[in-house]
Amino acid sequence: MFQNFFHLTKRFWFSLKPQELSEKDLNWVRSHLSESEFAYWEKLSTADKDHSFRVAKQAESEIGEQGKEFMAAALLHDIGKLESRFTTFGKVFATLWCLFFPFRKMEKWEERTKGLRRRLIDYAKHPELGAELLKGIDSKQQTIAWVLEHHSEREKWETPKEIAEILSSSDKE
Ligand SMILES: [Fe+2]
Ligand SMILES: [Fe+2]
Repeated sequence: MFQNFFHLTKRFWFSLKPQELSEKDLNWVRSHLSESEFAYWEKLSTADKDHSFRVAKQAESEIGEQGKEFMAAALLHDIGKLESRFTTFGKVFATLWCLFFPFRKMEKWEERTKGLRRRLIDYAKHPELGAELLKGIDSKQQTIAWVLEHHSEREKWETPKEIAEILSSSDKE
């Protein structure tokens, strides 16, 4: 948990001064996504775009061109966060909340259609929401699988282990 906490703290400081990606970086992102995937990716906050770019860049040298669908997974793994629409501070609050408050206790809020609890549950469910969103467009099965399982335990991964390890450790950088 402390390693996770350290990672989140680092993410928080990065998200306070998110970098707008250069035209060259945006073209690099575009080249790894379909048109409709890119249209959703563009809606992410500057901090989330920056994070997804870093994760994908980190994974690139090991996954490379042979795994275009896994590069898309690296770029889109947090796309479900579009649903909860938190600001940077809201995301920190939501992340800490999810870290200390078991999801099963939140399940009773499932019925809610609006408000903070609805947004918290959407945030906690961002893997499922992201996978659903990608199923509705032209994403590859391998991309959807990683988006869905990127916070699951290793034993439950369907993504080939060596690829999943790279994607997971890039997400923690
Ligand atoms: Fe995530
Ligand atoms: Fe992430």
